[in-house]
Amino acid sequence: MSTIDSASLQPAPRQIPAIEHTAISGMDAYRALVAEAETDHQAFWARLAREHLQWRRPFTKILDDSNAPFYKWFEDGELNASYNCLDRNLAKGLADKTAIVFEADDGTVTRITYQALYHRVCRLANALRARGVTRGDRVVIYMPMSIEGIAAMLACARIGAPHSVVFGGFSAKSLHERLVNVGAVAVMTADEQVRGGKTLPLKAIVDEALAMGGTVAVKTVVVYRRTGGRIPWITQRDAWLHELEHAQSDTCEPEWVGAEHPLFVLYTSGSTGAPKGVQHSTGGYLLWAAVTMKWTFDIKPDDVFWCTADIGWITGHTYICYGPTAVGATQVIFEGVPTYPDAGRFWQMIERHKVSIFYTAPTAIRSLIKAADANEAVHPRSFDLSSLRILGTVGEPINPSAWTWYAQHVGGGRCPVLDTFWQTETGGHMISPLPGVTPLVPGSCTLPMPGIDAAIVDETGHEVPNGHGGVLVIRKPWPSMIRTIWGNPERFRHGYYPDDLGGKLYLAGDGAIRDRDTGYFTITGRIDDVLNVSGHRLGTMEIESALSAHPSVAEAAVVGRPDETCGEAIVAFVVLKTARPSGPDAKRVADELRAWVGKEIGPIAKPKDIRFGDAMPKTRSGKVVRRLLRSVAKGEAITQDTSSVENPTVISQFAHGL
Ligand code: PRX
Repeated sequence: MSTIDSASLQPAPRQIPAIEHTAISGMDAYRALVAEAETDHQAFWARLAREHLQWRRPFTKILDDSNAPFYKWFEDGELNASYNCLDRNLAKGLADKTAIVFEADDGTVTRITYQALYHRVCRLANALRARGVTRGDRVVIYMPMSIEGIAAMLACARIGAPHSVVFGGFSAKSLHERLVNVGAVAVMTADEQVRGGKTLPLKAIVDEALAMGGTVAVKTVVVYRRTGGRIPWITQRDAWLHELEHAQSDTCEPEWVGAEHPLFVLYTSGSTGAPKGVQHSTGGYLLWAAVTMKWTFDIKPDDVFWCTADIGWITGHTYICYGPTAVGATQVIFEGVPTYPDAGRFWQMIERHKVSIFYTAPTAIRSLIKAADANEAVHPRSFDLSSLRILGTVGEPINPSAWTWYAQHVGGGRCPVLDTFWQTETGGHMISPLPGVTPLVPGSCTLPMPGIDAAIVDETGHEVPNGHGGVLVIRKPWPSMIRTIWGNPERFRHGYYPDDLGGKLYLAGDGAIRDRDTGYFTITGRIDDVLNVSGHRLGTMEIESALSAHPSVAEAAVVGRPDETCGEAIVAFVVLKTARPSGPDAKRVADELRAWVGKEIGPIAKPKDIRFGDAMPKTRSGKVVRRLLRSVAKGEAITQDTSSVENPTVISQFAHGL
């Protein structure tokens, strides 16, 4: 837990560039919304749900908290998410409006209108139904960033089949684990994906995952032809997406579902080895996706919105698939990576597509700062970024210097930078400045969104005074919150509503501190064994179990080390079954272990640094002394008392990288 105790840590809030006619007009309007939610929490949410979503059957119940923390929102209301994201826009006269501008890795641009997207989704939904997929069935989506990927998600929503999107960078083993856990009946994938000028297999990985067994429920694999590369084919099971679409009608009656019907399950890492399937609802989730598009991003009819996330993460769910479409926005999506063909790609795309709202991760900004410092041609000032009006970041703390560079060089001093704090479990923004409203402080996510009752408490659940570090909690339920962990309600209850905090507070898993004067929140980092590597969430246990599964590994411990670009870097301490390797041998084994982790989990989980020792430093009761390993990973001199360590001599073995 963070125990930072300090007076005002933050600089004074800066006044921000004025923005005309924002959805929330100013601090008074913000405070009025906060007060409205405080006065009658349920009435506040009910009003929003009536104003921002179209219901097939209006709800009469707002919140059911009789089985807390398994909260239910708008339970007797009926709606369909894809109807809200597509048909509703057609009815509003937005049929010819561009829904998505897709830029491929090689720069090819494809546009699709709301009308055309609606037809594609309907065809795909019909095709899934024709293959026997029905309401409640789970569909795994393992696809690249593409119009087809978004259409796949919306098609599942249309027929009431919860989707589970698995990021295309995960290995066959990780995909298999998720397919089995969620009990998928169908998989949607592509032949290959293209990133940074390289093609990478997807369908072959699906085949490998399905051959691992335990996935008997999967009867259909739908394949989007992205590259035309050669892929294996199982005639009975596999079907081309374009052939399926072609054979279907371009309209499709949506499946009207209750507001609590699961819209999707998205796997994320926690403290223990197995990833957890975060289950979201249809009504509550979609409500906050739509409202935050308006409140946080102040989305207007003429805006061009670009969120650089991947649909494999929650940011891609809420601020690519559902949020922008729910409000009828035009958005840019991107297949490739920010550094290909060079590190000016983002700035060039903002210029080309006249992006007005840009949302990315601090890691991307930090790596682009480095590149811009080294090469003027890829510096944002070499591009016309005058279309921008709002900037955002997400996924990890942003250091004030990166924040300031982003505001100055990308935003030209005109655009507010919104440091949005939220999580897979929260569905949408929790603590974030509002553009043109909240005076900004670099490195602070500032104030909770109206309706979100955030607080900082000590280990016993008591609120700490401003200026004192503690753990971040949310005191009242909110509609877009996680409903449960798929197949493991007890893990949900214990993990998020722990008894030692009284069982009634949602524990976010982050440490935080509020500024003494302004009450602004600053997130100080995870309090559990979760690492944040380039904005990706990874459990240390997950990586440890992957390493330990290698035949030559006796024991492994994984910790994070602060890293200038990635936020955190993974450092692994390994004890082999054979003698401790040294010299070139150590490098060879380390490379082999890195490749192994890439296969077990995916390339994002490969340790940056692997150290070998004869044994793990442990206490006499056999616990690995992690705090010591953290210091060793940072290269700190060991000044801590090591008298409780059973075998202190191994510490110096681990002290040196390869
Ligand atoms: O530690 C916090 C960090 O990312 C975690 C959530 O990760 P994930 O579920 O993958 O969702 C990321 C995208 C919403 C949080 O527990 N985090 C997210 N946003 C911020 C952040 N840390 C600091 N500042 C943020 N703005």
